[in-house]
Amino acid sequence: MESSFGTFELNNGIHIPCIGFGTWQTPDGKTAVDSVKYAIETGYRHIDTAAIYGNEKSVGRGIRESGINREDLFITTKLWNTHRAYEATLKAFDTSLKNLGLDYLDLYLIHWPANKADGAKINSDTWRAFEKLHRDGLVKSIGVSNFLEHHLRSLLDGAKIIPAVNQIEFHPGQMQNETVSFCKSNNILVEAWSPLGTGRVLDNPALMEIARKYSKSVAQLCIRWILQNGILPLPKSITPSRIKENTEVFNFDISDDDIRAINSMPYFGGSGLNPDTVTF
Ligand code: A2P
Repeated sequence: MESSFGTFELNNGIHIPCIGFGTWQTPDGKTAVDSVKYAIETGYRHIDTAAIYGNEKSVGRGIRESGINREDLFITTKLWNTHRAYEATLKAFDTSLKNLGLDYLDLYLIHWPANKADGAKINSDTWRAFEKLHRDGLVKSIGVSNFLEHHLRSLLDGAKIIPAVNQIEFHPGQMQNETVSFCKSNNILVEAWSPLGTGRVLDNPALMEIARKYSKSVAQLCIRWILQNGILPLPKSITPSRIKENTEVFNFDISDDDIRAINSMPYFGGSGLNPDTVTF
């Protein structure tokens, strides 16, 4: 797959455009259609949605109306928690594909690990369905989201296919080092949701000062910092100027010292969601 942004190579040899357009909290309807269309016009080739976002139909419409060939786009959606295990997963996938109006997906993710006593079995059953969807050619790559090291270890135990991706919350102050290093050592690409801390990191004085040095916005600094950490950012915006701004991150390099300074920032806010304790 070609992308003006460059790509990461997944563990199955497939290339994934190195910035994805996030759509969490993008309202369904015209806003989602227009922002997806505008993102594609601006050069994004990778769109990330999820069944629970409630905007798959509009995201699909934006994709179709962009006029870009399907095979030049990389589309991800995610299985919601109420549809885990084998049969329910197959049905939920079918619904997502229909909502998007597509005949295959590039990447399908388990949105959150099941975390109750029988969680490991449920995650394995879900993963068997993912492997079938992959075998049947309906999805080119399969992966997970919000999996911690212990969820991954137990999934890998019975898996025929190693997840290509783990999408986790990742932004300054919340780097999930243990999960990231486990993923890197198992050749699982980490994707960053909430790369701007859902907007929370943008007025951080330390980040503002570093961004000024490079004549970049804090949003651009965060996106570039994520890329330089070997992680794939998924910035979300419904604002045309910001959608474009978030792609203008390839004409500067953050110095090693500044990377280290951002890497060592303490936690200063995030979603607060812990995969081991969430109740949804
Ligand atoms: P909006 O969608 O109204 O443009 P994250 O990607 O971490 O989830 O952050 C998304 C939030 O950050 C949204 O509120 C989005 O606002 C805002 N945002 C995205 N890009 C920028 C930017 N370049 N400058 C300022 N705010 C941004």
